[in-house]
Amino acid sequence: MSDEHDGTFFVVRGPVEPGDKRGRELGFPTANIALRDQSGQVGDGVWAGWVERANGTFVAAAVSVGRRPTYYGADGYRLVEAHLLDFADDLYGETLTVWLGRHLREQQKYTSGEALVEALALDVAAAREWVAGHPASGLPALGSPPPDGEVRRLG
Ligand SMILES: Cc1cc2nc3c(=O)[nH]c(=O)nc-3n(C[C@H](O)[C@H](O)[C@H](O)COP(=O)(O)O)c2cc1C
Repeated sequence: MSDEHDGTFFVVRGPVEPGDKRGRELGFPTANIALRDQSGQVGDGVWAGWVERANGTFVAAAVSVGRRPTYYGADGYRLVEAHLLDFADDLYGETLTVWLGRHLREQQKYTSGEALVEALALDVAAAREWVAGHPASGLPALGSPPPDGEVRRLG
């Protein structure tokens, strides 16, 4: 993890869409948000960040941006998948605003679900560490939110 981009955030907003439910089976359920711009200004990767719910509360998250290469190969469509920490409610249909604060690693193609689960556990630990030092109260002002599925860079 580098501090090179500390203070810069990518923000994506959109309604939670149905996923494959595989995340739940793996033990890491995700809220999936479609990316409108398939190239985008945010690269594929795994991030630590914050998710702002429709009611204005913030929940810490480990977030994947990419094509799920373990399951879909290079031609999958890009999406944002947020695994909210210590959270169990249903978010389906709710509009979330996802703040990507720290790039943790690149997307990887894993050879098994078990290998992916091991990586996800490390991502969650890294995300916990980052959010502990970067509380939601310190996020930069968003102003008017970006259109659904578009990425805005702040800072
Ligand atoms: C923190 C995090 C990191 C992830 N990293 C990868 C990855 O490196 N490679 C990959 O193929 N999928 C990755 N994923 C996506 C999982 O493959 C995906 O969440 C899982 O297959 C469930 O998909 P579903 O939400 O459609 O059910 C990641 C997901 C999260 C939440």
